[in-house]
Amino acid sequence: MANTLVHGALPALGWNSWNTFSWKIHEKLIQETADAMISTGLRDAGYEYVVIDDCWSLKERDANGRITADPEKFPGGMKALADYVHSRGLKFGMYSCAGTHTCGGYPGSFDHEFTDAETFASWGVDYLKYDYCYRPASANGENLYRRMAIALRNCGRPILLSACNWGQDNVHQWIRGSGASSFRSTGDIQDNWQSIKNIFLSQIDKTCYEGTGCHNDMDMLVVGMRGNAENTYIAGKDSGCSDMEYSSHFSLWAIMNSPLMIGCDIRNMSDETRTILTNPEILAINQDAECRPPFRVGAWNNNTDLVCLWRPLTGGDYAYACVNFGDTPREASLQLFDIGLPYASGKAFQAHNCITHRDEGLHRERFVCGLESHECKVYRMKLV
Ligand code: GLA
Repeated sequence: MANTLVHGALPALGWNSWNTFSWKIHEKLIQETADAMISTGLRDAGYEYVVIDDCWSLKERDANGRITADPEKFPGGMKALADYVHSRGLKFGMYSCAGTHTCGGYPGSFDHEFTDAETFASWGVDYLKYDYCYRPASANGENLYRRMAIALRNCGRPILLSACNWGQDNVHQWIRGSGASSFRSTGDIQDNWQSIKNIFLSQIDKTCYEGTGCHNDMDMLVVGMRGNAENTYIAGKDSGCSDMEYSSHFSLWAIMNSPLMIGCDIRNMSDETRTILTNPEILAINQDAECRPPFRVGAWNNNTDLVCLWRPLTGGDYAYACVNFGDTPREASLQLFDIGLPYASGKAFQAHNCITHRDEGLHRERFVCGLESHECKVYRMKLV
């Protein structure tokens, strides 16, 4: 399940500190999270990156212009922490910014790209999330991502570049050429259903930019957060989702080929959260070797609250996902003619439900499924 092709060929799977912990990060948290990746089965399910987001460094560079880890938060230093993460069979990720400062006001890598790439390589970093705050107005954003990409490609260590410019400057049109492995396409997610819906709908017309090697990052998952976060922007009053909504969020990010970066505290997650995050059939769709984009498919009688996606998978199967954004249950129809299967072919689709893991019969002309409010169903379809 884990990336066995070129580093970054498939959407990254991992955990990131920001959604739950924001600035409240420290060495012990990262070590315990790496341990929990193993004890909870996340590593075996394919998750490999443990990523420290913003607020990890001192506010000033040292006398040699080097960025320095905050010794109070990370007393053992980043090299030792990377070694710890690697010793657990996981990869180590960090965060910097294309501007002069990070969004949290710590040193950014603007005009320090090569020095910082070298520093990250010397620590054993495998993944760099690269943000967009404090970009000098006169600097060209596209070029700033190229600069860090060149620096990373010459630092002596494969470090995956995860660009994070929030979908600005038509990033989907140029990012692939920079060498980055993913691009954040939206503003920051919040732990509520409206935010999940807005992000998903904003990207539905951009799926044609998806393909192996560079992926549309719809932001880190809020699955399992249940309103727990240091940062009140991410989880303020009335935040948190139902388990069904978290499951739908996970399925939608998966079929869209987004990187799946867990944002909850995995040391204390519920069984329901674990079941969602480790579902092997949903992960297999996200990690399909061909990384084909889904296309939207409708039916004349489908309510406008429904969004249904169809996508070819390696080896001949197809993935079909349908979500109900409405407040009442709905029925979703799919006419197989609309995904390219004529009735006259004599062929049928065997539908396998990837959430319940049950087969749901043979379908020759139409496929109909019922959806609760905010439910997303996902099927693997086999042509027989
Ligand atoms: C931006 C990014 C977030 C996070 C914060 C850290 O808002 O979009 O994902 O990295 O910065 O300050």
